[in-house]
Amino acid sequence: TGSWGKYAERFGGQLVLVTGAASGIGRATAFAFAEAGARVVAVDREGEGAARTAELARLIGAPEAWPETVDVSDEAAMEKLAEKVAGEYGIVDVLVNNAGIGLSGSFLDTTADDWRRVLDVNLWGVIHGCRVFGGQMAERGQGGHIVNTASAAAFQPSKALPAYATSKAAVLMLSECLRAELAGRGIGVSAICPGIVNTNITATARFAGVSEQEENRLRKKSSKLYGMRNYPPEKVAGAILHAVLNDQAVVPVTPEARGARLLS
Ligand code: NAI
Repeated sequence: TGSWGKYAERFGGQLVLVTGAASGIGRATAFAFAEAGARVVAVDREGEGAARTAELARLIGAPEAWPETVDVSDEAAMEKLAEKVAGEYGIVDVLVNNAGIGLSGSFLDTTADDWRRVLDVNLWGVIHGCRVFGGQMAERGQGGHIVNTASAAAFQPSKALPAYATSKAAVLMLSECLRAELAGRGIGVSAICPGIVNTNITATARFAGVSEQEENRLRKKSSKLYGMRNYPPEKVAGAILHAVLNDQAVVPVTPEARGARLLS
């Protein structure tokens, strides 16, 4: 456990919905809000993982926590989820669109289906989340906050991850456009841009389309400079809470992400 209890005055009793909450950054974020006393909806397409997150969130301090098994790329399912949440739990105060999948491979090695798969989850999933829950927030008229998990890849061209990086650049721009639109309604929008974080996504990442020698060189360079894979998801969760507390627009999280943002 961390030290998020001190933000109970701000988040206590608020309704926080996190997607991709079955593991990694999403689970850590659900736990951080739980510690701050928020009521948590843990959404993931992996039902068991979501259930476990909700169960642990209650133990950690969430007065209530519910798992929801939903694929964020499924528009109808997201609309149904929003109706259910509004009807049974209330209007979401903080929405964290975090579900995402990795995809590595050079452009020439990436098929149209690969592009569709990654854009469906990483971009459309965020669009659906912002539409259905952001729409409810705006209608209620009492403000709120939306956090979208983009990536340092959004401002760091890479021949190893063109589809993933493109999906995240789109999420970054969507977040900034939405921030401008919703500011007048008291709804903040933040884009969180982590570099390399120690989760399932990076454990299984492959630098496909890059020679083994080049992959080894990249991994070595990265781990020497930044402790590749050592950056804990809990610290990204902390950055997400701070983004809401301080209404930050774009937040590069890991050291290499901050470096990439400065260069872009
Ligand atoms: P993770 O793989 O541990 O967690 C992702 C979660 O999203 C999983 O529980 C997965 O089941 C869920 N998910 C995937 N597709 C889904 C769908 N269609 N509907 C509902 N749930 C779905 O990985 P991690 O790292 O925690 O990823 C979270 C977010 O952070 C992603 O958007 C990722 O792109 C982003 N990110 C991760 C970085 C890293 O180095 N780990 C760096 C920058 C961004």
